[in-house]
Amino acid sequence: RVVEWSLEDATRGGYAHFMLKEIHEQPRALKDTYYGILHDVAVGEAVKLMHDADKIYVTAAGTSFHASYYFSLLMSILGKRLVIPFIASEYESYYLTASDKDLLVVVSQSGETMDALKALRAFRNRGAGVVAVSNVVDSAIPRESNIAVYTRAGPEIGVAATKTFTTQTLVLSWLAIAYAEASGSLSKSEADMLRGWLGRSGEVVGKIIARLEPVAKRLAEWFRSVGNAYYLSRSIGVPVAMEGALKLKEIAYIHAEAYPAGESKHGPIALVEEGFPVIFTIPNREDLEKLLLGNIQEMKARGAVIIGVASENTGLSDQLDYHFRIPDTHWILTPITHTPPQQLLAYYTAVSKGYDPDKPRNLAKTVTVE
Ligand code: G6P
Repeated sequence: RVVEWSLEDATRGGYAHFMLKEIHEQPRALKDTYYGILHDVAVGEAVKLMHDADKIYVTAAGTSFHASYYFSLLMSILGKRLVIPFIASEYESYYLTASDKDLLVVVSQSGETMDALKALRAFRNRGAGVVAVSNVVDSAIPRESNIAVYTRAGPEIGVAATKTFTTQTLVLSWLAIAYAEASGSLSKSEADMLRGWLGRSGEVVGKIIARLEPVAKRLAEWFRSVGNAYYLSRSIGVPVAMEGALKLKEIAYIHAEAYPAGESKHGPIALVEEGFPVIFTIPNREDLEKLLLGNIQEMKARGAVIIGVASENTGLSDQLDYHFRIPDTHWILTPITHTPPQQLLAYYTAVSKGYDPDKPRNLAKTVTVE
């Protein structure tokens, strides 16, 4: 398996920043990743390891952890299988529960993050098997794993991860679907239908970026003056909210917190007053929309300004002060469809505040120290 990068890939190619270029590369990155995984024999091997494992854990740092968390939710929803997610630097609280019958999935775009590598080694020393999901062939984490599955995002230069996140969620969704099909909790036709959506995700994201970039740019004119924001969702939307909040913190230096929306009444709502921005990630699922309606109303009642990332046909549109209109797709694409507008909002907010989104203060692209 060879993933080739050209010099052209590593230059800005007309974009003001690498981050903006990489946001715009997502349609291509998703297509490449989809066609890569379609023919990847490692998928079958990874699914077999998952199937044979007593316990499955998934670990990562930063943005890759959000993709990992999405994977654990999908495995539970589609595969009826518990996957234990933990933050890589917290591995010491988990590895003693692992044995040679267990499996650790490690997600790292660079394949070199020290916290993830340390977690991997601790689990290996207990005899556990390891599946890596990475964007860099033959980096340390894939090298030390039993099986490696790759995203084909191409080199990511911007410190804040963008295209590697959406492609990671594609690969991890693929693994969860394959697992659910192999274990009988999804029929072949259901699995084919979901894979079909993954196959169309690049095209859908192209439309989303074209439609919503001007909306994000306009909203950034207000966001540059806000001091705080909440990012709320439920279920499969929660890791997307976490990723949205992280982007705003990382490059626009705005204090942003993500919560499962139901939890917001247990503390966070105390801070909400007139004009407080709350971004709701609203997956295209009626049950979640129903639940989120109550949370939106609680926030509105305190004067919050509601920004919804939601399908164009959502029943909640009259509740939203701003609506990032996502074409109607299957909820399984939520991280792929609902993240790019939030990346663009963070990007344009950073730029309008005069910051360089490619070089956020205090952050490194790859953290190779503990
Ligand atoms: C750093 C980067 C983040 C990234 C994290 C994990 O903190 O600034 O953008 O998500 O590392 O990186 P990895 O290469 O392991 O996915």
